[in-house]
Amino acid sequence: MNKIPFSYDELKNIISKFPTPFYIYDEKAIRKNVRNLKKAFSWNKGYHEYFSVKTNPNPSLLKIFKEEGCGVDCASLAELMLADLCKFSNEDIMFTSNVTTSEEYKLAKNLGAVINLDDTSHIDFLNNCAGIPETICCRVNLGESIKYQDKVILNLKDSKFGSTKEQIYEGFKSLQKLGVKHFGIHYQFGCHKKDPKYFEINTHKFFEYVVELYKNTGIKVDFINLAGGLGIPFLEEDSPADIEEISYSIKKSYDETIVRAGLDPISLVTELGIYMTGPYGYFVSSVLHIKNTYKTFIGLDASTNSFMSPLRYNNYYHISVMGKENNECNHIYDLTGALCEDRDRFATDRPLPYIEKGDILVFHDTGAYNYSHSHNFNGKLRPAELLLCTNGSVKMIRRSETPDDYFSTLRF
Ligand SMILES: Cc1ncc(COP(=O)(O)O)c(C=O)c1O
Repeated sequence: MNKIPFSYDELKNIISKFPTPFYIYDEKAIRKNVRNLKKAFSWNKGYHEYFSVKTNPNPSLLKIFKEEGCGVDCASLAELMLADLCKFSNEDIMFTSNVTTSEEYKLAKNLGAVINLDDTSHIDFLNNCAGIPETICCRVNLGESIKYQDKVILNLKDSKFGSTKEQIYEGFKSLQKLGVKHFGIHYQFGCHKKDPKYFEINTHKFFEYVVELYKNTGIKVDFINLAGGLGIPFLEEDSPADIEEISYSIKKSYDETIVRAGLDPISLVTELGIYMTGPYGYFVSSVLHIKNTYKTFIGLDASTNSFMSPLRYNNYYHISVMGKENNECNHIYDLTGALCEDRDRFATDRPLPYIEKGDILVFHDTGAYNYSHSHNFNGKLRPAELLLCTNGSVKMIRRSETPDDYFSTLRF
């Protein structure tokens, strides 16, 4: 677990300018992580990371990734527009969508994005609405069960994503006839795991398929898109993924399959999300009320509409009660917000130091899939986002919503 990049006094100073609740992201740590990632994969000359925009679609973060030499992975019209706004273009945009509209394909084609087809039945649809580009990627669903430590963790046959192996063979041949010159193949290699062995086994299977694809179609892909799913630690005692080790296991699979089949070089690309921003974001909220009934409820000035992951994924998020970090966790609390929904809990039966009204709570590892999942249930508004810049200053990169934002789409 990362050490909070600001002291209690520094946080009080930040709150005096930007009231809670808010998210705050650590620019320096984000940049360091990207550099380590790129270094770990430097054995593969064409390696490129496309930050998964859905994870945290704030333009200030996208610009940091651009400066660090990453592309972006978009999944919708608005995400493509964001990419364009941040001056990403051509092969620096991957468009990995599903159930795609003609407007989305048209914009992706106009921006020169690499279109990643979720379904080979979209070939005609794409051809009719936007035309077939020279470079294209297809998403394969290997149709197998993904196991971890002898347990099935995912049955790909149930997944809505990707085309079957055979559909890809036919799809590639049709695309070649339609003028495609450069091909990519996409498969989500992770499942929020950190164990290098897991990545070795999973990529080995996928790379074997890439060789099969070549044998069946005569088409050698230019790039292999491993997508995302590289896990992060949430528990205090957990250690982060060893990216050097993971990259080394992927290289081992690559050497045993792609190199052995004479297909080297093929560029590897990723669309990592949670790994890129998750550990470098903090959600900050203050204690508004304390309610004692059959349990003790700590009522925060935020609700789970702003920070929904504990509810949605049942993830454990580590909490620091600022100024009391070294105190004994000898009180049991439920942390709640104001939603008219009993599941509105940031944590249940959590041992924490004694909490008083006005205490400031920092939730760790909240830099991914948190702001982007926020919503307006109960008329509750979304919080602000701040950036702790490399030089130590803090800037607001998204203001909090106001009631005017809530009413702005209504017509009456
Ligand atoms: C197509 C695609 N790429 C990349 C990602 C990023 O995954 P993660 O945040 O697990 O790295 C996702 C997540 O949903 C995805 O759907």
